Amino acid sequence: MPGAVAGSRRPSGVLIAASILDSDLGALGEEIRRAEAAGVDRIHLDVMDGHFVPNITFGWKTIEAVRRVTTLPFDAHLMISEPGRWTGQFLDAGCDSITFHVEVVGGQVRPALERIRAAGRSAGLSVKPGTPLTALAGYRDVLDIVLVMTVEPGFGGQAFMGDVADAKLAAARGWLDPAGACEVQVDGGGRAGTAEVIGRGGTDVIVAGSALYRADDMAAEVARIRSIAEAARVRTLPG
Ligand code: DX5
Ligand code: ZN
Repeated sequence: MPGAVAGSRRPSGVLIAASILDSDLGALGEEIRRAEAAGVDRIHLDVMDGHFVPNITFGWKTIEAVRRVTTLPFDAHLMISEPGRWTGQFLDAGCDSITFHVEVVGGQVRPALERIRAAGRSAGLSVKPGTPLTALAGYRDVLDIVLVMTVEPGFGGQAFMGDVADAKLAAARGWLDPAGACEVQVDGGGRAGTAEVIGRGGTDVIVAGSALYRADDMAAEVARIRSIAEAARVRTLPG
């Protein structure tokens, strides 16, 4: 399956994941189909609980409801305080990967990652802009995805933090790369104007929300982001 995550090695090109956060949520199924028609590789689902972040979005019932509108992989990004409590529901809803935040209360992290993997899905951890990659060190053996946030989690349409990208993307790639089995995602402010920096960091997956849903021509924007990032990535990761 194009853009597949579960059990796969990191992708060879740069994949685009459409964040539906800034789409027309009253027509969510149509908005997902619109992204698929525009050529995105995955759908990125931002779940917020009003506690871990100062915003509330949607939960597994919504994900389950839109699972049937596309065969594209669903990447869930849980910005919630208790991901370990709800892992089963997000697995049952049909998420192909589940990424949550390393900043949550620690005891739940490893069991949740192991549970996601045991279900045959990809397990990820995300770091806020102020959290160092070293926070992930104890989980390397159970990680399929590292999601580097280049905005403070909570809202779409924020400005990309280039200093965070420069400090973390290549470092994450280097830390994960030896077996080539993990992917690095970047989330926040992904657009044509930031794709060069993102690609240069060796990033595998770019999450883009407002850049796609506010574009006049979404397909052209997807192609533009991907081609700029891939050209930069090839220069960083030759062969
Ligand atoms: C922010 C979310 C992001 C965001 C992406 O908390 O995790 O996925 O919605 O939106 P843009 O691309 O507009 O920054
Ligand atoms: Zn996200």
